[in-house]
Amino acid sequence: MELSNKTILLTGATGGIGCAVAHSLAAEGANLRLVGRNAGSLNRIAEQLSGTHQIVVADITTAQGRQDILSRSIDGGGIDLLINLAGTMAFQHFEHQSEESIEQVLNTNLVAPMLLTKQLIPLLNSRPASAVINIGSIYGSIGHPGYVAYCASKSGLMGFTEALRRELCDTNVQVFYLAPRATDTALNSTAVNTLNRALGNSVDQPQQVADALIKLIRSNRHAEFMGWPEKLFVKINALLPRLVDHALVKKMPFIKQILNTQETTKINI
Ligand SMILES: NC(=O)c1ccc[n+]([C@@H]2O[C@H](COP(=O)([O-])OP(=O)(O)OC[C@H]3O[C@@H](n4cnc5c(N)ncnc54)[C@H](OP(=O)(O)O)[C@@H]3O)[C@@H](O)[C@H]2O)c1
Repeated sequence: MELSNKTILLTGATGGIGCAVAHSLAAEGANLRLVGRNAGSLNRIAEQLSGTHQIVVADITTAQGRQDILSRSIDGGGIDLLINLAGTMAFQHFEHQSEESIEQVLNTNLVAPMLLTKQLIPLLNSRPASAVINIGSIYGSIGHPGYVAYCASKSGLMGFTEALRRELCDTNVQVFYLAPRATDTALNSTAVNTLNRALGNSVDQPQQVADALIKLIRSNRHAEFMGWPEKLFVKINALLPRLVDHALVKKMPFIKQILNTQETTKINI
């Protein structure tokens, strides 16, 4: 899909990956609707971009926020692409995670993108060629201790994407799924960074995710799982989950140590 002069609604535009994606899309000549909750951050990003872009201050987990996004999209003459990138993460023992935190993760990463997409499908479908791109995670395909609610949310997002892609196959709307691996942004707490280093997990830069996203939109593929060996682990986990169980069991003492340290010190290590 050609991106020049396309109108693209990007949630999570103020985040580490969102900012890189916004720069890459603007460089391709797209007109952006940058969504986030903080007007100051959105304006700062819009000012750095080449071209003319609009900001939409909205909390995607509220009905009002999603209605504001819809109204602004209609007033602005519609949209060609919706990129559901906003997200949140909690790294915690599931039994110690508050109900509010679990709901926040599920609402932000799964329910809000579903409801926003549902509202915007008529606008997208009125274009000759349009797309929804959902940003998941490798953890949407591999359940990992410490990230139970996050894994559930991204796994749900992957299922949503696949079902919607099939349901919309005879429309003008294409549906894509991009699953990054660990990426160097503020989403990851110090504890998560410590764990990634200790487990030898590779960490991408946000620009690598932005490049992968643009490549995916231009390809004839509908999904991309980033990183090697992560994409192999996704396949192994689907075919031979006991192998992954065993690998993670070996790492559990260290994962628990970091979770316990984080919880007992009550600081975000
Ligand atoms: N970083 C990683 O390691 C990694 C790996 C795999 C997948 N991902 C996925 O990539 C996406 C972007 O992550 P990131 O690393 O760029 O995270 P980030 O730097 O923490 O940014 C999160 C973004 O989401 C927005 N957001 C959160 N809650 C929102 C809400 N209720 N309403 C509107 N906007 C909201 C934030 O906007 P404001 O706070 O300004 O409102 C911010 O723009 C997420 O979906 C994440 O799950 C990240």
